[in-house]
Amino acid sequence: MIVGVPKEIKTNENRVAVVPAGAAALVTDGHTVIIEAGAGSGSGFSDALYQAAGAQIVEKADGVWAAAELVVKVKEPIEPEWQSIKSGQTIFTYYHFAASEQLLKAHIASGATCIAYETVELPSGELPLLTPMSEVAGRMAVQEGAKYLEKLYGGRGMLLSGVPGVPPAKVVILGGGVVGSNAARIAAGMGANVFILDLSLERLRYLDDVMPANVQMVFSDRHTLQKQIATADLVIGAVLVHGATTPRLIRREDLKNMRAGAVIVDVSIDQGGCVETMRPTTHENPTFIVDDIVHYGVANMPGGVPVTATLALTNATLPYVRKLARTRCIEALKEDSALLKGLNIISGKITHKKVAEAFGYEFQTAESMI
Ligand SMILES: NC(=O)c1ccc[n+]([C@@H]2O[C@H](COP(=O)([O-])OP(=O)(O)OC[C@H]3O[C@@H](n4cnc5c(N)ncnc54)[C@H](O)[C@@H]3O)[C@@H](O)[C@H]2O)c1
Repeated sequence: MIVGVPKEIKTNENRVAVVPAGAAALVTDGHTVIIEAGAGSGSGFSDALYQAAGAQIVEKADGVWAAAELVVKVKEPIEPEWQSIKSGQTIFTYYHFAASEQLLKAHIASGATCIAYETVELPSGELPLLTPMSEVAGRMAVQEGAKYLEKLYGGRGMLLSGVPGVPPAKVVILGGGVVGSNAARIAAGMGANVFILDLSLERLRYLDDVMPANVQMVFSDRHTLQKQIATADLVIGAVLVHGATTPRLIRREDLKNMRAGAVIVDVSIDQGGCVETMRPTTHENPTFIVDDIVHYGVANMPGGVPVTATLALTNATLPYVRKLARTRCIEALKEDSALLKGLNIISGKITHKKVAEAFGYEFQTAESMI
């Protein structure tokens, strides 16, 4: 099969969908791998590394789109790419179709088979292609929070770890899932006093077993949350209710009870955010201040660390890419129920219920379409 990897053209997207090691594995499997020139440069992979792995470099994106039977990307194709999509071609990438009707319409019209990373789902309910980005964002949330606690950035001027004779900072994490537990581990490693608030007792019990001694697990209710954030130096929003908008757990009136110069890093901003006063920000302009509280709302945090994020993503995606290529896509969808959940569009029909519901479109079961 011909597997193609175009360079990502979305603003500030430096990740790449296949690394040279992945290209080598696909070539060993008997496939032809074509990579757009420069596709890996933002993640530290030169064209020469891909060539050494047996991939072919093509100068322009058009060359990749025209030849590839399976296109592997990181972000959804954006408007300039739509005209290049071919009917019958399979595209495997993060799509988030429910966020854009225009994107959805363009892909229905294209006749392509669209498999979305974010809806690939294991029988356990785990989303294996979202998890690596949550791991990255959770760990990065502490790094960013520590930076913005510095006085220069409007923070309290506090070192997360403290020093001998001066106590460490208090970090409160709302939600103890993948983002929250990764954030907790890093904050605890830096010596902070960490509190994780979650609604799931089962999750709190698990975290209690595995977290270091400077992490305390707290059942989340409105009263406890208000009390905890009032003495926090850094708050990390890591809440998710599957399939729903994030609940607004921190209200505007809560800010005045917080310490001036405290920092909120709301990782859950990509799903709406758990802080009433939060809005999405960018890596170029990541923070703003409301009522003396520093707000950080970067919606694509992993984009800031493409070298790590590319490897984390491709470690998780490569087995699926190999499976798709080996079976010419359709058989892989028949064999693998997790991949089938990732199927959002095929032959102009929407096969993911929530995507169809988002815009009131007709829906066909994925099983009936393969
Ligand atoms: N900004 C970014 O760049 C970025 C990157 C990756 C993930 N995310 C987002 O981070 C969020 C968290 O992702 P995750 O993978 O950790 O999800 P997850 O499902 O693993 O964890 C969410 C946790 O929130 C808890 N929760 C739900 N409601 C709660 C409430 N009212 N109070 C306290 N806890 C509550 C759940 O019990 C669960 O443990 C998601 O919105 C995800 O999209 C953002």
